[in-house]
Amino acid sequence: MKEIKEDIISVGANDAKRELFDELIPLPDGTSYNSYLIKGNEKTALIDTVDPTKKDILLNNLKEVQKIDYIVANHAEQDHSGTIPDILLKYPEAKVICNEKCKDMLIDLLHISEDKFIVVKDKEEISLGEKTLQFIFTPWVHWPETMVTYLKEDNILFSCDFFATHHATEDLEIKDKEAIYKSAKRYYAEIMMPFRQMINKNMEAIKNLRIDIIAPSHGPIHNEPSFITDAYKDWISEDVKNEVVLAYVSMHGSTKIMADHLRKSLEDKGISVKFFNLIGADIGELAMALVDVATIVIGSPTVLTGAHPNAIHAAALVNALKPKTRFLSIIGSFGWGGKMVDQLASLIPNLKVEVIPPVLIKGLPRKEDFKKLDELAEQILEKHKTI
Ligand code: FEO
Repeated sequence: MKEIKEDIISVGANDAKRELFDELIPLPDGTSYNSYLIKGNEKTALIDTVDPTKKDILLNNLKEVQKIDYIVANHAEQDHSGTIPDILLKYPEAKVICNEKCKDMLIDLLHISEDKFIVVKDKEEISLGEKTLQFIFTPWVHWPETMVTYLKEDNILFSCDFFATHHATEDLEIKDKEAIYKSAKRYYAEIMMPFRQMINKNMEAIKNLRIDIIAPSHGPIHNEPSFITDAYKDWISEDVKNEVVLAYVSMHGSTKIMADHLRKSLEDKGISVKFFNLIGADIGELAMALVDVATIVIGSPTVLTGAHPNAIHAAALVNALKPKTRFLSIIGSFGWGGKMVDQLASLIPNLKVEVIPPVLIKGLPRKEDFKKLDELAEQILEKHKTI
């Protein structure tokens, strides 16, 4: 529990030991569920709550608080909303402030009764006395109902998942900028990247606010907002780097030999390669590498007539994350036949990429196969010259 400014207190919880989010996303640095208490001279508001697994910490942090008038739900996902029912039990007079979409979700997800809500419209304000909350709709970061809350007099943006970081820390503020940048990029890649165009619109929606502090609902607060907003501007821009993500899996070594050769051929041409063996790869690292990469190459053997399941997983992930990648190719080796390339190609309909003809070979690569890989590297180089 820490004071951000007078009468604005962080009352959320760290979850340093959590290893996966949504049972999907690795959390190498854990996470936090930030909740903020704002005491006006007339009303008191709680901005978001915490994951239900940490409700005791939030309730303990509120033990001296006699009255809460408003619980602002910026987002219905349970890591922020899941303790609202417990707060309503302790403070039965409190009302949940949210938008119409969020209200419907909270009724479905948490069975909160209809009479507990105050529904707000975009840009609507609610007074706490000398402090004013303004609610700004920022849909699709990363659910349809998401909004942010702006504390006008103090120039604080409570952004919930927007600009957040899965990074457990006892420090309210950023101590290690490099580590937080990496965590923020991982967070953006895994959660926000599929909604890049909407993020762009939402950046516009907040650009005229004077913001001194961004207080997200995961990770440290940003006392230097441009640190995170500039990073977002970079990630959502159309710019891609002269890089290839080369993600492969190999059964008997042939596809690995191809991947190693292609990597060297690309690097010899001045193209940087982010190289992933899909057996045991951290999908968060892979997602981060996708944020601004120009080309993706997936390597797979043929197994049971199709692509290897880890290559299928990688292709499905890339398709779901929708990176701004411009080019894609596939490489691999087969023993006796199959539909590996067709199967992988069918898994990426969301990508707006130009497909560079795959290199598919039989068995252990021969001299002519290495030549085909060199030609693929040359084609990638030529494509990168156009970006
Ligand atoms: Fe942090 Fe979308 O919940």
